[in-house]
Amino acid sequence: MEKEEELVDMDEKGNTIQKEKQKSNKTLSLTSKIFMFVLILIIIFFGILYIFRTFKRRSQIELIITNNYDEMSLRAADIITDLIKKNPNANLGLATGSTPLGLYKELIKRNAKKEISFSNIKTYNLDEYCGIPQNHEKSYFSFMKNNLFNYIDINPNNTHIPKAEGDIKINIQNYEKMLEKNKLNLQLLGVGRNGHIGFNEPGTDFNLGVHDVQLAEKTIQDNARFFENDINKVPKRAITMGIKNILDADTIILMANGTKKAEAIKNMMSGVVDKNIPVSALNIHKGKVYVIVDKEAANKL
Ligand code: F6R
Repeated sequence: MEKEEELVDMDEKGNTIQKEKQKSNKTLSLTSKIFMFVLILIIIFFGILYIFRTFKRRSQIELIITNNYDEMSLRAADIITDLIKKNPNANLGLATGSTPLGLYKELIKRNAKKEISFSNIKTYNLDEYCGIPQNHEKSYFSFMKNNLFNYIDINPNNTHIPKAEGDIKINIQNYEKMLEKNKLNLQLLGVGRNGHIGFNEPGTDFNLGVHDVQLAEKTIQDNARFFENDINKVPKRAITMGIKNILDADTIILMANGTKKAEAIKNMMSGVVDKNIPVSALNIHKGKVYVIVDKEAANKL
């Protein structure tokens, strides 16, 4: 009889231990389920945050891939024509170099056909070489006169190019003040092989305004083609709008053609923001950015 009671007792104990084991197993699996759930929530949260940030960064960038240089120039001319028609008093930020030559030719044609007028337009150029006089045939002042200003109905007093002669410090301050007073409705950009915009070379602080710079070796080599291929003739310093000034413009048009520019365009379009790739600053521009490229400049996308 006693033995029977003992057996029943043991049986109950076994059951209780079993039940407790099951209970603790259940609590354990509930904890791990909650843990997994929270982990998944965290992953989803950061995933959405990442997608949102990338989307937000790139949402204003419109990539236009064209068949060739002429088509690229026409697309840029269309955007500028629209802007001038909507706002005949617009402030335009302009660039030099070989990239915008076709665009300038097209604007000259449209001006001759009276499709657009520059009579109330003000222009502000990105940069100017130091060490050569303003009237030097290779200065950006001469470039703008020879490739655009002399052939359109713009008032020369409304055209502005950084002054790289005389007191450079004062000239820089004056250009900065002028840009502060005259917000740019549009900034036109080319891009260097090394990703420079204006003369903002890799490593430039994105918060800099107008400043003077030492040109990078690659830029000097690239620009030798404008100086009878003689590197020694290429000025080594320049005054440039800073990336801050460029980003202050309402709208930006970046143009690029040729395989030499493909790497810079690929880097920029990846959405990265890196001061060693100055053109990548366009990813944090708050307004609209048109990236107009030919097939060759797009061949790494
Ligand atoms: C010119 C300028 C430069 C050029 C760039 C590309 O005012 O600011 O950044 O846009 O060096 O030059 P090109 O068009 O000659 O290839």
